[in-house]
Amino acid sequence: MCGIVGYVGSRPALDVVVEGLARLEYRGYDSAGVALLAEDGTLATAKRAGKLVNLREALAEEPPPAGTLGMGHTRWATHGAPNDRNAHPHTDCGGTIAVIHNGIIENFAALRAELEEGGHKLASDTDTETVAHLLEDELKSGGTLADAMRAVCRRLEGAFTLVAVHAGDPDLVVGARRNSPLVVGVGDGENFLASDVAAFIEHTRDALELGQDQVVELRPSGVTVTDFDGAPATVREYHVDWDVSAAEKGGYDYFMLKEIAEQPRAVADTLLGRIGADGRLSLDEMRISDQALREVDKVVIVACGTANHAGLIAKYAIEHWAGLPCEVELAHEFRYRDPILSRNTLVIAISQSGETMDTLMAVRHAREQHAKVLGVCNVNGSTLPRECDGVLYTHAGPEIAVASTKAFLTQLVAVYLIALYLAQVRGTKWGDEVFAMIQLLAQMPDKVEKVLETMGPVRDLARSLADAPSVLFLGRHVGFPVALEGALKLKELAYMHAEGFAAGELKHGPIALIEEGLPVIVVVPPRARAVLHDKIVSNIQEIRARGARTIVIAEEGDDAVRPYADTLIEVPAVPTLLQPLVTTVPLQVFACELATAKGHDVDQPRNLAKSVTVE
Ligand code: F6R
Repeated sequence: MCGIVGYVGSRPALDVVVEGLARLEYRGYDSAGVALLAEDGTLATAKRAGKLVNLREALAEEPPPAGTLGMGHTRWATHGAPNDRNAHPHTDCGGTIAVIHNGIIENFAALRAELEEGGHKLASDTDTETVAHLLEDELKSGGTLADAMRAVCRRLEGAFTLVAVHAGDPDLVVGARRNSPLVVGVGDGENFLASDVAAFIEHTRDALELGQDQVVELRPSGVTVTDFDGAPATVREYHVDWDVSAAEKGGYDYFMLKEIAEQPRAVADTLLGRIGADGRLSLDEMRISDQALREVDKVVIVACGTANHAGLIAKYAIEHWAGLPCEVELAHEFRYRDPILSRNTLVIAISQSGETMDTLMAVRHAREQHAKVLGVCNVNGSTLPRECDGVLYTHAGPEIAVASTKAFLTQLVAVYLIALYLAQVRGTKWGDEVFAMIQLLAQMPDKVEKVLETMGPVRDLARSLADAPSVLFLGRHVGFPVALEGALKLKELAYMHAEGFAAGELKHGPIALIEEGLPVIVVVPPRARAVLHDKIVSNIQEIRARGARTIVIAEEGDDAVRPYADTLIEVPAVPTLLQPLVTTVPLQVFACELATAKGHDVDQPRNLAKSVTVE
């Protein structure tokens, strides 16, 4: 939440910062602002409520003085309404220090009261502004902006990434992080700071991963990192393995359309190098030994939103193939009860961004209870992999649209790999099935591609339902989490009422919702699972008899469902456990098309931000 960019070098800083913000707008779009140090040493700021386009217009009307050092911010509001006044940057009383911030400073009320008592006049309702005034006080007692930042950070509670500039040191950008993301881009005679490498990928692919409680000083000539006490800190260097084209729309109207289309490649990339020539899985990179995996007696999955839906599907796979009990928990609920964990519990934390605070806090809680924690993450350099005992990366590439699509499919691949690997190292009774399943997994990119080739009728259907007041989604077994995911996509993209139900639950209450013409999307399991399949065919008949408009997603050639489907969407036949990889795709396309028909911006749905870095 909130996007941050900082730059120092020899290029016009305004261009670098605004282009960086454009790539980070998915992190929040309540307001945007920049601060620039002009060549004559003056600090200029500009900020506007609303999307970046408003700031761009303001900057075009009144261009700030030229300079080669600057920073910018896109906001997802926490403290204070999303208006011009609360937009970042915030400045001190003298207007010589500017600060931008991502996170929540939990003790800001006490700090603000202390500042006001000391005569400071604060102009906004934000927690961030207190930092500008605290820095002002610190600088009065001597030292550099970096010294002042370290002293201020020692007083702050909560989660924060802070970046500050000071007119008194026109060569320096200072950043600090605790529990919120901040990465450094290392250039030649120029350096960058950002919440996400996407902001500077056009200029450099060499990055530094800042650790917890660290302060970074950025000058054109180099980068220095210390802890909050000023002791030199070591940071991990890494090279970003995707380029600027991956962070651009590539001819699509929306990132989401591009990301849906990229799914066959994302699935293939996530499998790459993990299936050996002998047909066995090789996941040594996970950093958790086979012996440790053999000792596991329970799996607990923690995640939020779409990632949690991947976890719900993982439960079926882990229990079936690995023969291990598996619980799935919303990460934000996990640490507020008393989960029973031990050294032999494997906690799997799934997060695209690797920065979801709820998931990070669950990870910390699990490690405190001595469980082994394995992260499933898409973003190299993010916090989650650092905090886990091991990590399995998904290779979806950058996901820019706020609502998750390709990351979900790659999370499914990752959890299938983990389930099958657990089965492989533990030698469960399903040896042959596990071996066969690994081969089938390798065919999934082609199956997903096939689904994408047949999406025309799904788009027509979506447009025809743009005015429907509500859509229900039903599934059984792994089709149930798919139904939940279909409903979530529709809610967040189309702002429509949508609910996902386990089809078996229908008769226990939700069937009362069925009325004439209500669209109900039903995910049908493969015919090979006859018991499941036949039950859901009965469910379809029950809702149709009560007037529902049935939209049925079933495998090719499933003639048993045809008579009861007002609309039939066919997907390639695959084994039950792998079916979410093909049944989710039509639901993504459906939600995206329906939202577009309603005139919504599917990349930036209202009220949302991609990376939820506050609890
Ligand atoms: C929905 C969506 C969210 C995220 C959730 C977790 O489309 O994108 O529900 O899945 O906020 O985010 P990560 O995976 O980054 O932890």
